[in-house]
Amino acid sequence: MVPVAMYMNWKLALLMIGLMISFAVFNAIAMRRTHKAQGVVEELHHEISTRAGDVFGNVLVVQSFTRLAAEVSSLKEMMQRVLAAQYPVLKGWAILSVLNRAASTLTIVAIFALGATLNGKGEVSVGNIVTFVGFALMLIGRLEQFSGFISGLFFQTHSLSDFFKVLDLHPAILDKPDAIDLQKVRGEIAFEHVTFGFETERDAVSDLSFRARAGSTIALVGPTGAGKTTALSLLYRAYDPQQGRITVDGVDLRDASLVSLRQNISVVFQDPGLFYRSILDNLRVGKPDADIEEIVAAAQAAEAHSFVSGKVEGYETLVAERGRSLSGGERQRLAIARAMLKDAPILILDEATSALDNSTEARIQRALNKLTKGRTTFVIAHRLSTVRNADLILVLNEGRLVEQGRYHELVAQGGLFAELASQGQFAPDAIEEDDVESIGVEDHELARASSQ
Ligand SMILES: Nc1ncnc2c1ncn2[C@@H]1O[C@H](COP(=O)(O)OP(=O)(O)OP(=O)(O)O)[C@@H](O)[C@H]1O
Ligand SMILES: [Mg+2]
Repeated sequence: MVPVAMYMNWKLALLMIGLMISFAVFNAIAMRRTHKAQGVVEELHHEISTRAGDVFGNVLVVQSFTRLAAEVSSLKEMMQRVLAAQYPVLKGWAILSVLNRAASTLTIVAIFALGATLNGKGEVSVGNIVTFVGFALMLIGRLEQFSGFISGLFFQTHSLSDFFKVLDLHPAILDKPDAIDLQKVRGEIAFEHVTFGFETERDAVSDLSFRARAGSTIALVGPTGAGKTTALSLLYRAYDPQQGRITVDGVDLRDASLVSLRQNISVVFQDPGLFYRSILDNLRVGKPDADIEEIVAAAQAAEAHSFVSGKVEGYETLVAERGRSLSGGERQRLAIARAMLKDAPILILDEATSALDNSTEARIQRALNKLTKGRTTFVIAHRLSTVRNADLILVLNEGRLVEQGRYHELVAQGGLFAELASQGQFAPDAIEEDDVESIGVEDHELARASSQ
């Protein structure tokens, strides 16, 4: 192989170094000028996708409130802003590309021109010039590749940095290094001076203390926003209390591993979250290895089987995003079936049957009554019978426990609970159609009071 040095001429080499420097300088300038602007573009993209998701997710609201034109024009306006922000960035990089190309072409022309002059003086041979042009073309190819890589990286940087920000987030709820793995608990629960607040003026739960015996049913009642859902979300550690502690079978929740704690708790949420998957997959969330017989049995107990089998694809029916292809009552029944499959010793029912008609609710109530046997059950209730049968009623108001006791004690106290009851806060028991004569007199009175 002929040594490259043989062909070296420092003047020609200088031209190539000049080419490399100009590439580096142009790239650096383009990046500096456009970095901030691209950040703004990425933020706007994010805003648009959030906004579009919001609009599509609430398409019925948009239609019924005749917001279509307004939403479309606000999306259009956001897109205009993206274009306005993106244009200078693209312009900057287009100019860079032109400059890079110009530098390459000028370098080749300069090599020829300088080569010709040097050849005239006898300093380089034609072979040298051709070799240099070959080097230069190779170098240009590489530099252009490099510049393409840098610009690609540049446009990805902002989304990449968002991605890394998420990866770097530390979860607020973490297992302690020596966390205890709870086995199946008995379900004795104590809240001891528990306080928790979102970043708002008033704590959502304030100095809450109570004790739930294993297997008992605790009803939480109180006006809307009183902190019922929040108090129970502390039990499965959606959040940790800022003060006080919660124990299960005497173990501070913070000392238990999160997975083992949550395996012990079934929740039917106020908003029954369903996945965009088949009904079967949604139910299997409760028990991943459940066989079809178990699933059907749970669905039957939750009064879901008949509506599911009425669908063309049965259990394979795809549930739309957030369960929107199902009625509110159907969603609740699936959520109940899912909780039944989980078969955990602690059960949380947050308005679990509020979207059901009387007759369906009455039938599910029987299954729920069976389900709650032997489990510590927390129920945020709207039915009179549920509160009446509870072993302990906790009355919350503005995050505070204002009264606690059994139904008759609280009615006799004449406090907030009695007031809520007389205002018709608790609906009379749901009844099956063929069961009308069995309603209690008391319920009739309350129902009448509430309808007046
Ligand atoms: N994720 C949240 N971020 C900020 N504030 C919240 C959040 N969730 C609830 N809150 C606030 O905490 C308070 C208690 O809410 P919570 O949902 O526990 O009430 P609730 O008693 O379950 O009411 P409802 O009967 O309407 O379901 C309310 O003032 C509510 O606005
Ligand atoms: Mg609630």
